Amino acid sequence: MRQMYTKSSMGWDPPSKKRELFHLNSRFPPIVAYSMFRFDVEDGECVLYCYELQVSRLVQRGGIGKTLMECLYNIARRWSMQKVMLTVFKQNQTAFLFYRAIGFNVESDEEWVDEEEDVDYWIMSKNITIV
Ligand SMILES: CC(C)(COP(=O)(O)OP(=O)(O)OC[C@H]1O[C@@H](n2cnc3c(N)ncnc32)[C@H](O)[C@@H]1OP(=O)(O)O)[C@@H](O)C(=O)NCCC(=O)NCCS
Repeated sequence: MRQMYTKSSMGWDPPSKKRELFHLNSRFPPIVAYSMFRFDVEDGECVLYCYELQVSRLVQRGGIGKTLMECLYNIARRWSMQKVMLTVFKQNQTAFLFYRAIGFNVESDEEWVDEEEDVDYWIMSKNITIV
């Protein structure tokens, strides 16, 4: 909106906007989903690592998780990452099925396969395809 404010009679005034946003009477609708990621290097590959993905129970199974992961995928592609990676607990069957449904696979690195019996999580990834 910055350009529009700049052109308008109100002008662009970030401190005033901040005061308005954080005013005692300001209310925000509930946040129904969020994600957190980092750009990282894993085994020499540039990756977007998804650390958090949470969709409110009330709106699960409505396509929001898939849409958020598509956003991360597009960001990864935009910044020339090689893949999107994440960690999921083996006990989290819902998330595992979700990630499989949207094209993620369990990492099959040899070193990882040796270790996988001892850990209670999966590392999953999806390669970025060049279009
Ligand atoms: C996992 C999670 C993010 C999925 O988000 P969502 O918005 O409910 O998922 P979507 O609606 O986009 O689902 C896309 C596809 O994934 C699969 N899927 C999603 N939830 C599923 C479930 N409970 N069982 C089986 N498949 C599932 C389906 O194939 C679904 O497509 P469909 O609804 O057309 O059949 C959500 O359940 C969640 O926030 N869980 C709690 C937190 C969590 O576990 N986060 C992941 C940590 S690694």
